Amino acid sequence: MSNCVVLGAQWGDEGKGKVVDLLAKSADWVARYAGGANAGHTVKVGQTKFALHLVPTGILSPQARCLIGHGVVLDLPALFNEIDSLIKAGIKVDDRLFVASAAHLVLPHHKLLEEQGEECRSSAEKIGTTMRGIGPAYADKIARRGVRAGDLLDPDRLGRSLRQAIDYWNRITNGLLSSRGCTAESVLQELQPCIARLTPMIVDGPLLLDDAVRRGQSILYEGAQGVLLDIDFGTYPYVTSSSTTVGGACTGLGIPPSAIGRVIGVVKAYTTRVGNGPFPTEALNDDGNRLQAGGNEFGTTTGRSRRCGWLDLVALKYAVRVNGITHIAVTKLDVLDEFDEIPVCVAYEHRGQRTTEVPFDGARLDEVKPVYKTMPGWKQRTVGLTDFDELPSASKNYLKFVCDSLHVKLLMVSTGPEREETILLENHHSLVGA
Ligand code: GDP
Ligand code: IMO
Ligand code: MG
Repeated sequence: MSNCVVLGAQWGDEGKGKVVDLLAKSADWVARYAGGANAGHTVKVGQTKFALHLVPTGILSPQARCLIGHGVVLDLPALFNEIDSLIKAGIKVDDRLFVASAAHLVLPHHKLLEEQGEECRSSAEKIGTTMRGIGPAYADKIARRGVRAGDLLDPDRLGRSLRQAIDYWNRITNGLLSSRGCTAESVLQELQPCIARLTPMIVDGPLLLDDAVRRGQSILYEGAQGVLLDIDFGTYPYVTSSSTTVGGACTGLGIPPSAIGRVIGVVKAYTTRVGNGPFPTEALNDDGNRLQAGGNEFGTTTGRSRRCGWLDLVALKYAVRVNGITHIAVTKLDVLDEFDEIPVCVAYEHRGQRTTEVPFDGARLDEVKPVYKTMPGWKQRTVGLTDFDELPSASKNYLKFVCDSLHVKLLMVSTGPEREETILLENHHSLVGA
C-alpha cells in the first residue's frame, strides 16, 4: 500500500474508523494528524465495538505501530482511559503507541473556558462543540502559551508553562480559574499519574516518520473530523479548530507532501452533521428521520443525534478540490436500501444564480438552496454484500454517478458496520470512476 491520507470528506462521522481499520491491516504505521478527543472513530469487530477518540485506529491491527502526531491536542486522562479500555479488551498497546513531543495538551482550564465561550453565544450562534476543550487548547497553542507533551519531561519547564498559562487566563477572566479551583498546582496534581505513563511514549514524531519513509515502510495518515469542519476550509465559525484537510497531515505530523501517495476521502452515502452550522441538504422531514434511524446516527463522542440529509456533490467536489482526493470509500450504502428515490444535490442556487461551487465564504452555505437530481432507489438489501457484482444495478449507478461527478476512483464500498461488510474494489474489473 502506498502511503495514504484517509480523511473525512463531509462534516465528520463518515466512517473513517472502519475504513482506516481495513487499510491498517497492511500498514506499518498509522499516524493521527489532527483533532483530539472530540473525534469518535468506531470499529466493530465481531461483538466488540471500539470507539477510538485519541488513539489511532491502527492499534486494532497487531502489526501496525501508531503515532499521535503533534497536530493532535492531547487530553491525557482521556488518553489513558482509552488505553486502559483497549488493554482490557485484549489489545496490546505497550511499545506500539507513541506520542509526538510537540503535541499540545488539553488542560482543565480549556474545558472551563469552552463552557464560557459557548455560554456567551446566543442559542443560534452556539457552535455546538463537543466540550472537550479543543478550541481553547488550539487557541493557547497558537497564542504561544500552550503546554506540550515534551514539557512533561522537564518538571521546571512544565511548572513554568502551566503557571504562565493559568495566570494569563486568570488575569483575562478576572480570576475565573481560581474561583473554580483550577490552579497550576491542581493541574500539576492531576497530571502527575499521567507523567510516568506518558514518558516512555514520547518521541520526535517527524524524525520517526522520516525514518519510516526512508525504510520504505507503509504509513497511513489518519484524519479526524471532516473537510467542512476544517478551520480554514470549513463552514467557519461552525468548524473545529484544527486543519482536518490534507495539509494538516503535513503540518500535524511533520511530513513533506512527497511522503503522501493517495488521498482517500471517506464519503457517507448521504450526509450528516452534529452541532450547529449550515447544512444545505439537511432533510427536515420524514426522510431525515429515516436516515437518522436507519443509520443509527448518534454521535460517537457525545451521543447527540446527528442531523441528516442527502448527498451533496457540490460540497464533495469542493472536498476533492482542496484535498486532491484521488479515491473515495463510500460508507453506509445499506442505509439507502429502502428509499424509493434518492435525491442528490448537483448544484446550488445562490442569490438567483446557479452554481456548482461552494461560496467562497463557507458561512454563506446557509444562503444556498440545493438543486437535486433524483436517482431511482434500489429497494433491495445491500447489507453485508462483499462483491460489487452482487450490488443492485441502481446502487451501482448511484456509485458511478458520484464517482464520475467527482472524477475520483471508488476504492471501497461499505455495506454494514462490520469489518467483513465491505466491497474492496482495488484491481476489480468493475472499478468505477475516472
Ligand atoms: P468516523 O468518526 O468517521 O470514524 O465515523 P463514526 O464511527 O463516528 O460513525 C460511523 C458509524 O457508522 C459507526 O457507528 C460505524 O460503526 C457505522 N458504520 C460504518 N460503516 C457503515 C456501513 O457501511 N453501514 C452501516 N449501517 N453502518 C456503518
Ligand atoms: P470524527 O473524527 C463530527 C463538530 C462538533 C461541532 C464542531 C466543533 O468522529 O468525525 P469541537 O469540539 O471540535 O470544537 O466542535 O465540530 N465535531 C465533529 N463532528 N465528527 C467529529 O469527529 C467531530 N469533531 C468535532 O459537533 O459542531
Ligand atoms: Mg465520529
